[in-house]
Amino acid sequence: MAKPAEAPLAPRHFLRFSDFSHAEYEHIFERTRWIKAQFKGYKRYWPLQDRTLAMIFEKQSTRTRLSFEAGMHQLGGTAIYLNTRDTQLGRGEPVEDAAQVISRMVDMVMIRTFEQEIIERFAEHSRVPVINGLSNEYHPCQTLADIYTLIEHRGAMRGKTVAWIGDSNNVCNTWLQAAAIFDFKVRVSTPPGYEVEPERIGPDVRRHFEAFSDPMEAARGADLVTTDVWTSMGFEAENEERKRDFEDWQVDADMMRVAKKGALFMHCLPAHRGEEVASEVIDGPQSIVWEEAENRLHTQKALMEFLILGRVKARQPVRGKADGKH
Ligand code: CP
Ligand code: NVA
Repeated sequence: MAKPAEAPLAPRHFLRFSDFSHAEYEHIFERTRWIKAQFKGYKRYWPLQDRTLAMIFEKQSTRTRLSFEAGMHQLGGTAIYLNTRDTQLGRGEPVEDAAQVISRMVDMVMIRTFEQEIIERFAEHSRVPVINGLSNEYHPCQTLADIYTLIEHRGAMRGKTVAWIGDSNNVCNTWLQAAAIFDFKVRVSTPPGYEVEPERIGPDVRRHFEAFSDPMEAARGADLVTTDVWTSMGFEAENEERKRDFEDWQVDADMMRVAKKGALFMHCLPAHRGEEVASEVIDGPQSIVWEEAENRLHTQKALMEFLILGRVKARQPVRGKADGKH
């Protein structure tokens, strides 16, 4: 008699920053460092040969699409871009059915969509790992790159202070989740009516989070000042109202001056100069936005390696800063 097919092991997903432990992030960052050094040194590393990533986009993207697509190619695999408008998902095929089908054809799925609930429903019915490439509520891949970038520049996160100025959006919620895992503080300043929604961040985050009505107070003494657009994708109808409400929440040189001496500035991009950030800051010496954007590639390669292959041991230690490429 034929042996009944065994149920596949439940895959790991990356849907919220709180899905991984501190030890798992330490591993991913160690692998990022090594994978980045291979890339900079033009060394081939193809652990995901014959593996396929499906990328489902319901919102626009430059960085996320490119970093996943290029990253998958650089790991020896293939990435397939799907836009919901051009698939049956855009014509009402249930997310659960799409998950069953898509996850039988590829090894991993990345989704950028509106409600987080859509990604969670997809993951629940997927046989392969699912990565959140941004939802209205969270953007874990961005925070993965942001934390790695800050560690590269300033060392361990423990005890650091991050000032978040502006909208308490998907990126802000994810910073807050990261604060509990890496043991740092996030000082958030939003205009009235745009405050952090506590149910998005989880109870263990509260002691890592402080709210300020005055953005200058939030920035005072911070190691990092960071912000994002006043109007996120999907909220365009509120654009004019938001421009008025957020007028005093621009990160400018005065704000950087009250931060810690040598404080850094980050922005997930795309940015609107003259709105959430002044050109003098984003294009100034304290800004590390280009390194931050580049690290999307390296951290996500390590993330994909981890989700498909588990804990891979470093092949060789990385000493000092890798040179070569770029
Ligand atoms: N930061 C970020 O996710 O950029 P994209 O919208 O271009 O992917
Ligand atoms: N908060 C922004 C991030 C874009 C990468 C948005 O959701 O549009």
